[in-house]
Amino acid sequence: MKLFIDSGNIKDMETLCAIGIIDGVTTNPSLLAKEPGDYKENLKKICAIVKGPVSGEVVSTEFAGMMREGHEIAKLDEHMIVKVPLTRAGIQACKTLSDEGIKVNVTLVFSAAQALLAAKAGASFISPFVGRHDDVGFDGMQLIADIRMIYDNYDFATEILVASVRHPIHVVEAAKLGADVMTAPPKIIHQLFKHPLTDAGIAGFLKDWQASGQKIA
Ligand code: E4P
Repeated sequence: MKLFIDSGNIKDMETLCAIGIIDGVTTNPSLLAKEPGDYKENLKKICAIVKGPVSGEVVSTEFAGMMREGHEIAKLDEHMIVKVPLTRAGIQACKTLSDEGIKVNVTLVFSAAQALLAAKAGASFISPFVGRHDDVGFDGMQLIADIRMIYDNYDFATEILVASVRHPIHVVEAAKLGADVMTAPPKIIHQLFKHPLTDAGIAGFLKDWQASGQKIA
């Protein structure tokens, strides 16, 4: 499963990408609006750091505007993925941009029926929002299982990008269900490293080693 960072913050990218296990980045208008500076320059910097797929989202709600903004986003960098919402106009823009060879991430997906439409429109990624789904009393991970089954039934190449991830269990469940990608805020990616027994184990090994007075290098 690929790991994407869900953030627009350059410092977050630098810190996490230095570890070497980050495959891409997702942004949305709310995340980019929080960052100082020009959004285009910020997206270009993010592409240069992560060197993998970086989603930038359109804000138009009608087809022509989505196409105009999609072209603008796509030309920022070869790594840019155009993100469109799952509406009629968004699906039409997805189909048109995909036919032109531009990769599209269809976002704000909350049902398996919507995921089917996005795959039919040639989406490279779909972003089901598991956390927001849980928030309103639905089972976000069941949605991932349903989409996985449908895509496998028909060999759709669209990658399932689990979004709106709120805790490490979402990440583990996504991997168990065979999601292609998960995107999470930096805080949650840092949490994936943590286990109290790892910390306690290191402390014990260091104490014993220091008592021996030996050096490894
Ligand atoms: C995904 O692409 C979205 O940016 C994101 O995962 C939304 O998450 P939220 O529900 O925590 O805002």
